[in-house]
Amino acid sequence: MTHNVFITRKIPDQGIKLLKANKRVKLAVFPKNRVITRAELLRGVKGTNIILSILTEKIDKAVMDAAGHSLKMIANYAIGFDNIDLAEAKKRGIVVTNAAHPQVSESVAEHTIALLFALAHRVVEADHFTRTGQYKGWEPELLLGTDVMGKTLGLIGTGNIGTMVARRLSAGFGIRILYTDVKRNLAFEKEFGALFKTKESLLRESDFVSLHVPLLPATHHLINDTAFTLMKETAFLINTARGPIVDSAALVRALKKKQIAGVALDVFESEPQFAKRKSDALYLQHAWNVILTPHTASATVETRQAMSRTAAENILAFVKGKQPPNQIK
Ligand code: GLV
Repeated sequence: MTHNVFITRKIPDQGIKLLKANKRVKLAVFPKNRVITRAELLRGVKGTNIILSILTEKIDKAVMDAAGHSLKMIANYAIGFDNIDLAEAKKRGIVVTNAAHPQVSESVAEHTIALLFALAHRVVEADHFTRTGQYKGWEPELLLGTDVMGKTLGLIGTGNIGTMVARRLSAGFGIRILYTDVKRNLAFEKEFGALFKTKESLLRESDFVSLHVPLLPATHHLINDTAFTLMKETAFLINTARGPIVDSAALVRALKKKQIAGVALDVFESEPQFAKRKSDALYLQHAWNVILTPHTASATVETRQAMSRTAAENILAFVKGKQPPNQIK
């Protein structure tokens, strides 16, 4: 039996090659290198058996309806899968997979650490200062930042990415690690000497707070006005998870009131915009204690290829009648 696979946007080639090499797979790739429109998506999925989706596409009931009864699998080209209506897929018996290759977690952890250091050492601001000709000579108190060594890191979420951040920072920089999660993680405590805290205590005690939880109803606006009142004025927040975990309006209020020292965001509440409100987005864009990257935490050549292979391997397992390795239950 032939399996029709619709890919909503061109992805790195290694997974495509794996799929092309399988005679039972017939590929259709959306031909333009831009986000597929809703109308194009609804047209493109018609009659397909498998959708290989990108996180910019909302794969909801309407898309599943448009695909029709032939749709049996959705393979997401991302670790997160909040763009897919999982309950609806489950109801229809559609298998959903993500691209949870360990390499992805490593890249996101590296990017998190890069942002943490960029905040602490004011790297982006210093770069701007230098390239705009403001550097007139060495000064004892020019652009003073803060050291990372020996500081306290509060991790919200201790899955693969949170664990990798902890592993790199505790070994290399003697960071003290606090964490909070849905339940205690004894292996994590043992490996890093990490202390389990309530979210409130973690926010009060941490110098850096980094988010590594999925976007769920329970994590929506997990960081809100109350959270910012608890954080130290010298603390930094880093979000490489999902934008809506942070209430962006509350974040802007906190920055204006100097309730925290700064923030680094790789994800935004209303992507691709920085914030829901235009004025908030403008504020974030112009504040130097804010570092923004365009959802590129996993954007390395190695990782994006690993994700491509993983998505393809999930599809190929399904085609062979096996359980895909990254099936979301
Ligand atoms: C990226 O955000 C991912 O979920 O892989």
